[in-house]
Amino acid sequence: MLKDNSALKIVVLGAAGQLGAALVEELSKKGAEPKGLARADLDITREEDISEMFESMGPDVVINCAAFVRVDDCEEMVEEAFRVNCLGPALIAAAARRRRARMVQVSTDYVFDGKKRAPYVESDRVNPINVYGASKLAGELAVSSQLEDHLIVRVAALFGGTTSKAGGSNFVTAVAKRAREKGRVEVVDDQMVSPTYAPYAARTIAGLIEKGAAGIVHAAGEEPVTWFEFAREVVAVMGTGAQVAPIKSAALGQKARRPANSALVSERLGGLSVDPPPSFREALPGYLASEGFEYG
Ligand SMILES: NC(=O)c1ccc[n+]([C@@H]2O[C@H](COP(=O)([O-])OP(=O)(O)OC[C@H]3O[C@@H](n4cnc5c(N)ncnc54)[C@H](OP(=O)(O)O)[C@@H]3O)[C@@H](O)[C@H]2O)c1
Repeated sequence: MLKDNSALKIVVLGAAGQLGAALVEELSKKGAEPKGLARADLDITREEDISEMFESMGPDVVINCAAFVRVDDCEEMVEEAFRVNCLGPALIAAAARRRRARMVQVSTDYVFDGKKRAPYVESDRVNPINVYGASKLAGELAVSSQLEDHLIVRVAALFGGTTSKAGGSNFVTAVAKRAREKGRVEVVDDQMVSPTYAPYAARTIAGLIEKGAAGIVHAAGEEPVTWFEFAREVVAVMGTGAQVAPIKSAALGQKARRPANSALVSERLGGLSVDPPPSFREALPGYLASEGFEYG
């Protein structure tokens, strides 16, 4: 039985990343006093780091946001992809089972093959088509097979949070920079996704933890679009008049194949009385302004 949220000791791993940072912020707002650990504090592929953390912090809930997320690099760094995305979660789940703690594992829309003509629900068949998706699915199984008290939250196409401030990039800031610098952006129009503002995803995940939800839950922005449509909205909000041109995925020559459709919807959130992340459209103006991109 879970203690109430404010009494739970929560540790967030991968806390310097987009979602990890947003989760620490959201849980703090809810009075949960989470401890965020970045890679420098805890490497999820090192069993001794994990044991030490359980020993010193005694968490009730561990949320794993750490991952190897560079989808194309995963194709050539297969061992590293599986170390971080499967072995890491497996080690955390094993330690959580020994300590009777609960684990939240963050997963991805790329566990699906993209052949479905509608957004994917939790009960749809998984069938990844790239190494990243396979390693993340293996991570899901490594957690669910070892630890009954688990929650797997699949998120998608994240933007926002602290990454760009730390010098990183996400799709929105990449499009915005290119629009401003070049006046023209080419974006694929043959991949359907569910763009999700990371702080909105964090709010949904915090809600799920509060409700004691278990199993697999999808937490992605409510409005599926192609990357092209998403970019067009970014540029429209910026109001720069930059051109957005549709291209096909094949033209990019990327190492990893992407699903043609990886939009997510949830058949579970309603029953759990947790709100899904709102559409990306609600967050874009504020986010672009906060990143210093002119709009209006
Ligand atoms: N971004 C998306 O569009 C997207 C879409 C679907 C699912 N997801 C999932 O959402 C979760 C969060 O992604 P994100 O967008 O927040 O990614 P992110 O910004 O890249 O954050 C991931 C964090 O994990 C850290 N990390 C990598 N290897 C580690 C290790 N061995 N030990 C400890 N920390 C490690 C990274 O540190 P370094 O920077 O030092 O490497 C980084 O801070 C991941 O599970 C990802 O698979 C993301």
